[in-house]
Amino acid sequence: MRILHTAAEIFPWVKVGGLGDVLAALPEALRAIELDARVLLPAYPALKRAFPQAKAVAGLEDLLGTGPATFLRDLTPSGVPIYLLDAPSLFDRPGGPYDDRGDSHLRFGAFSLAAAWFARHGDEDGWEPEILNCHDWQTALTPVYLKVWGGSRPRTVMTIHNLAYQGLYGPEVLPSLHLPPELMAMDGLEFYGRVNFLKGGLQVADALTTVSPTYAKEIQEPAFGEGLDGLLRHRSQALTGILNGVDHRVWNPATSPHLPHPFSLADLSGKARCKRELQREMGLEERRDLPLFVVVSRLVAQKGLDLMLAAVDRLVHEGGQLAVLGAGEAGLESGFGEAAGRHPGRVAVKVGYDEGLAHRFMGGGDALVVPSRFEPCGLTQLYALAYGALPVVRRTGGLADTVVEGETGFFFEAVDAHALGDALARACHLFFHDPLAWKRMGLQAMAQDFGWIPSAQRYRDLYRSL
Ligand code: ADP
Ligand code: GLC
Repeated sequence: MRILHTAAEIFPWVKVGGLGDVLAALPEALRAIELDARVLLPAYPALKRAFPQAKAVAGLEDLLGTGPATFLRDLTPSGVPIYLLDAPSLFDRPGGPYDDRGDSHLRFGAFSLAAAWFARHGDEDGWEPEILNCHDWQTALTPVYLKVWGGSRPRTVMTIHNLAYQGLYGPEVLPSLHLPPELMAMDGLEFYGRVNFLKGGLQVADALTTVSPTYAKEIQEPAFGEGLDGLLRHRSQALTGILNGVDHRVWNPATSPHLPHPFSLADLSGKARCKRELQREMGLEERRDLPLFVVVSRLVAQKGLDLMLAAVDRLVHEGGQLAVLGAGEAGLESGFGEAAGRHPGRVAVKVGYDEGLAHRFMGGGDALVVPSRFEPCGLTQLYALAYGALPVVRRTGGLADTVVEGETGFFFEAVDAHALGDALARACHLFFHDPLAWKRMGLQAMAQDFGWIPSAQRYRDLYRSL
C-alpha cells in the first residue's frame, strides 16, 4: 500500500513540538511493517541543507501566483523517501516552519494544493499514493482541493495533533486560494464568519484520527472541542484515536549520545550519576536524597505550567527540587526565573530549546511534571517513562492513556495549583518514606513499551478499511 504523509515538521531538521517526532517515526514504522510510506514537506532551508542532492521529480509552473514550484525527492537516513515542495517565495525563510509574514494562509494553502496535485499526478517514476494522510491544519485543505476538483483521488485521512490550532483567516482569502465561494458555508470552511482550514479537512476527509483514544472522546465535548465538537460528533463514526509511540532509537537511555552515563533496566547505576551531573549542570544542590522534578515543555497555556509556577513554593517546602527546560510565553519564562532566584540550589530554569538537554533532564530527573489543561497525546511523559522518571500528570488526553496512577506515575484532576501541589506532595512523600516503592515504580515505568509498531499496525488497519 502506498501512503503519503504531509505535514509542516519533521525531526531532526524542523521540529517545534511532538508533530516533528511523529513525522520522523510513524512513516518509518509503517515501512517496517511492509507499507510504502513516504513523506512530503515544504522545502524549508534546513531541509534543503539536509538534502542537497534531492532530485527534481515533478513541477508546477505556477503555485497560486507565487511562482513556480518543484517537487524534490531524496531518502532520509532511515530510508524513508522524502519529497520536498520547493517554492522559494513561500518557504525559503530563516525563522523556522511558522515564519509568518501575514501570509500563512497562502503558504499552507499552497502547500495543501500542491500536495493534492501531487497525489493525483505522482512523481516521474509514476509513484502516486493510494492513501494521503494529512497532519494538522497546515495540510488540511488537501482533501478539500481533491473534493473540489473531483475525479479519481486517493483516500484521505486527517490526523489531529492539536485542535487548538485551526488556521483561521478572513473570508477574503478564499479566492486567493482558488477555492469556490460556496465553501463559505456551514457545511464547508465557514467558522463564525471566517475561513477555517482544519474544519475543511475534518468535513471531507474519508477518515479522521487523533493521537490518543481519550482525546478522541474529549474533542467531541464542548469543553475540548474548540468550537468543532459538533462537527466531530457528527463525524464520530469516522474518528479514531491512535496513540503515538516512542522512537526507541532516539529515546533510549542505554544508547542516547546525550546522556553522560548510559543506563537500562538491567543496570540502573548510571541514572544516579545522570542525576548528579544534571544537578551540577543546572546549579542545583547535588543531593541524591532529594527528589528532582523536571519540566521539558513549550511554555504555552495548553501545558498548564502556570499551575507549576503557583505550586513551586509548595514543592520546595515538601523537599523537592525543580529544573525547568522550556521556551515560550515571556511571563512564564520570567516567572520560573524569579522562582529560581527565590530558591537557589532548589529551583533552576533554562530558557530555550535544547534537544540534548531534554535527554539529560529525562535521564537525571526522578519525576517529570506535565500539568496540561489538554494534551492530545504528549510525548514527554513517554520519554520520561522510558528514562525512569515518573510522570506527574493531569488526567487528560494521552496523559490519561499512558500513565497509571500509583504504578508508573501520579495523577491529578482539577486544573488548579492545589490539586497539582497535592500530587507533588504525594510523590515527595513516597520518595522520602518508601524508597523501595519509588524504585519499583521506576522499574515498572521503564518496562512499559510504547514503541511505534502497534500504533503503525492500527494505522495500517485503518488504511486497509478505506
Ligand atoms: P507538544 O507537541 O504539544 O509540544 P509533545 O509532548 O507531544 O508536546 O512533544 C514535545 C516535544 O518537544 C518533545 O519531543 C519534547 O522533548 C520537545 N521539547 C519541548 N520543549 C523543549 C525544549 N525546550 N527543549 C528541547 N525539547 C523540547
Ligand atoms: C501536538 C500535541 C501533543 C502531541 C503531538 C504529537 O503537538 O500537543 O500532545 O503529542 O502533537 O502528536
